[in-house]
Parts: sequence; C-alpha cells; structure tokens
Amino acid sequence: MLADPSMYLLGLIAGCLDEDGFIEADSDMAQRYLVEPLGLYQGTPAAIIRPTSAEQISAVIRICNHHHIGVVPYGGGTGVVGGQVCIESPPSVVLSLERMNSIRAVLDNDWAVVAEAGVILADLKEAVDAADRMFPLSLAAEGSCQIGGNLATNAGGVQVLRYGNIRDLTLGIEAVMADGSVYSDLEPLRKNNTGYDLRHLLIGSEGTLGVITAATLKVFPKPVETVTGMLAISLPEDAVNVLGYIRERLGYVVSAFELIAGSGVKFIDDFYPDSPDPLDNHPAWRVLIEFSSSSKSNLVVRSSTVFEELLLSGQITGGSIARNESQRRHMWWMRETIPECNARVGGIASFDISVPISKVASFIMDAQSAINDIDPDLRINCYGHVGDGNLHYNVFTPDCVAAFEYDHCADLIKTAIYDLVQVRGGSFSAEHGIGRLKTSDLVKYGNPAKLSIIRTIKDALDPNGILNPSVLMAALSDEMSF
Ligand code: LAC
Ligand code: ZN
Repeated sequence: MLADPSMYLLGLIAGCLDEDGFIEADSDMAQRYLVEPLGLYQGTPAAIIRPTSAEQISAVIRICNHHHIGVVPYGGGTGVVGGQVCIESPPSVVLSLERMNSIRAVLDNDWAVVAEAGVILADLKEAVDAADRMFPLSLAAEGSCQIGGNLATNAGGVQVLRYGNIRDLTLGIEAVMADGSVYSDLEPLRKNNTGYDLRHLLIGSEGTLGVITAATLKVFPKPVETVTGMLAISLPEDAVNVLGYIRERLGYVVSAFELIAGSGVKFIDDFYPDSPDPLDNHPAWRVLIEFSSSSKSNLVVRSSTVFEELLLSGQITGGSIARNESQRRHMWWMRETIPECNARVGGIASFDISVPISKVASFIMDAQSAINDIDPDLRINCYGHVGDGNLHYNVFTPDCVAAFEYDHCADLIKTAIYDLVQVRGGSFSAEHGIGRLKTSDLVKYGNPAKLSIIRTIKDALDPNGILNPSVLMAALSDEMSF
C-alpha cells in the first residue's frame, strides 16, 4: 500500500534537491505537469520534482521507497495513454527529467551518442547532425518529447521500417531502480552476452521498473540524397505491394512509407482550406514515401524510373515528387497534421494497433465492414506506418453529430477492432504503450503467460510498487492466476 506523503516527507525530498528542483503541486508552475495532450486525465500529484543528476534521483527514491511514496517519471508530457499523469490516491511525486538534458558525447568511431533522459529528441538529432551523423528516430512530437520518455515507451515513429524502434537503436542504459540503486551500463558495445539484457527490460517498461536517466544510442551515416513523394493508390493492399516492389527494385532505401486515407486529407482540407493537395482527383488512399541514401547513388533518377513502372503497371494511379525542401516539408506537414485534425473533429474511438505487414490490407477491409455493420454513417480515418504494420485507426460520428450521441457504440467499436487485431496475431497497443488508459485491455488481450511474468518481474524489482503506480499493472491483481 502506498502512503500519502506528509509535509515532513516532502521537506525531506526537497532537501535532496536544489531550489529549482521542487515545485509545489498547487503553484502555477505545476500546471503543465498536470495535463496531457488528449485531456483524458487531470493530474493531482503531491509535488513535482526536477532533479539534475542520477544521484539526486537516487536520494529521492530511497526516501520514497522507504516511506512507500509513489513516483511518476515525467518526460516531455506528450504520451497519449496517461503514463505521465498522477491521478492516484494517495498522490505520488511527479519526477521530471527535464533538467538532465546534456548530451554527454557523440562517439565518432563507436557510431553512438550518449544523452541524458531529459534531452529533447529534436535537440539530440540536431547535435548528432552537427557531428555529421544521423539519429533516425522521427516522431511528430520530436520538438517536445524527451529521450527518457521515448525509451520508457519504446517510441517508434515513421522510420521504424528501416531503423527499428528506439529499442533497436539503444546500446546502453542508465537508470535509478526502485531501491535507489543506480544501474549504469552506458558502454557503446554492439555485443555483450553476459546475462539478462536489462536494457531491454527497462525500455518500454513505462517507468514501472526504474527511472531511466541516460542512454547510449546508435547513430548512422547522414543521408546525402533524399527523395520524398506522394503516391496515389486504389486500395490498401496496393500499398503493401508497392513497398515490396520498390524494395526489390531499389534495395533497402525506403526510410518512410506512411499510409494516408482520403478521409484524412478531407479533414486537413476542412481545417486548412488553403493547403494545396500535391495529388489530383482526391485518391481514396495514398502513401507518403521517402527514400534516402548516405552515398551518391542517383536516387532521384532511379526512383523516377520505378515510379513510372508502378504507374504503367497500374499499381499506383498517380504521384507527385517533392521538387524542393518546401514541397517536401508540406508533404510531411500533411502527414503530421492528421492527429491534430482528428482531435479537432473529435472521435468516438482511436486505436494504435499493429498486425503483421502481410495482414494490414485484410485488417483495413474487415475493420471497415465491421464499423459499417455497427453503423454505416460512422466515419473512419485510418492512417499510419504501413511499412511496419502499425496503424492509427480512428472512428468518428457522422458529420455534425456530437460524439456523446454515439457513446453507446464505443465499446462495440473497440471490441470489433481488437478482435480483428487479435485473430491476426497483432497488438492492441503498437507504439503508444499501456499507460493508465489501457490496463484493462492488457488483461483482456494480453498473453496470459507474459502477464504472469510481468507481475513477477515487477514484484521482484519494485516490491513496494512505488514506480509509476497503476501504469501497466493496475488491472493485474496480485492473486491473478493465468
Ligand atoms: C502518429 C502518432 C499518433 O503516428 O503516433 O501520428
Ligand atoms: Zn504513430
């Protein structure tokens, strides 16, 4: 059982920090730590702390562990499953990593960068770029999300098909564990088979096993040629086939391959009527594609040839290649604006699912029929990282009908979508995590053997349950037998 931190204990915690390290929960400065992007939760923590080192975090966590005080790690605050918001009672302490924001080193011949958890992703990419290297993790939130949060949630984004999730990009990790010990393993080793790989236990643990304080991450040669375009297709299955064809013809040069529905472009048009569409004739589906190469390989000419072949064979029905950086940026702006437009339209349901790439097209077609069966007037905006099998699937009321009028459909829609994911061996949470939002879904759709092991690991590493209480574990009761 967790305890309510008394004024005395909060004073002890503040005593481990400098003057800027402690924020009272009811102060103006605290407000931004109490909200999250979707407005699903309003935080009610006991205090916000902003330590500057792993040693300070260790000192705070020792106190919290001893007195059974919850600790909620906080990165950029961009997570969409409530993982960063303390809503529990008794209240926890929110621990923001923002002041641990130094890039310790870019290691040339190790092809690695060592960064603290509070470094903003865009700042890391800029620093790596200045060292003539490239860090590939790319997300719409990169201007505010932080490396620690990216690691805690195993962030994916738009380049996973080529470079993997942040898990695949991580060589070493440093974290403060629930007993206050500091686990530091930041060597840039590519091979290290000396027992369990704790790096992978901490990545994606959503702050429930340790507070990640730093990481050593892989960097890559900087692209010298980039081609970005939008290709019009008739059906989702064309997207998967086109990706296969391009890979066969050009090799592993595709660095992004994003599916966008015509309905998504219509939303953009509704909110940004002056924004030009690079494609004519409002295609039902399109992909945003990007190729990149770190050596001069005539990518522009080679990719144009392949696009012509695709057009001739009817696999694409049109296309537009960005002729300059501003056109390229506009194509990416369209893709990255879709979540904002969805939020402005206000959906009934939003899912972050993945299925094997080979089953993406059948999932989209079956999901459309299932939603039609529930109510043929419902609107769908399905988009996402088709190159890695991760789709963001959003369902909306008919135009001009308020979302609450369709509240009764929300559960039906969720069950229909998750069942279609499950029969395909997919995941109901592909890249956003479980957080506080999806804990009961985890019990319903999680692999029972895995849930049992998760419970055992959590109990072993955080026996008092102080780390991000009610994230991930909330619905996994102690007595659960699987
Ligand atoms: C995206 C976020 C929602 O891909 O993951 O836009
Ligand atoms: Zn995404």
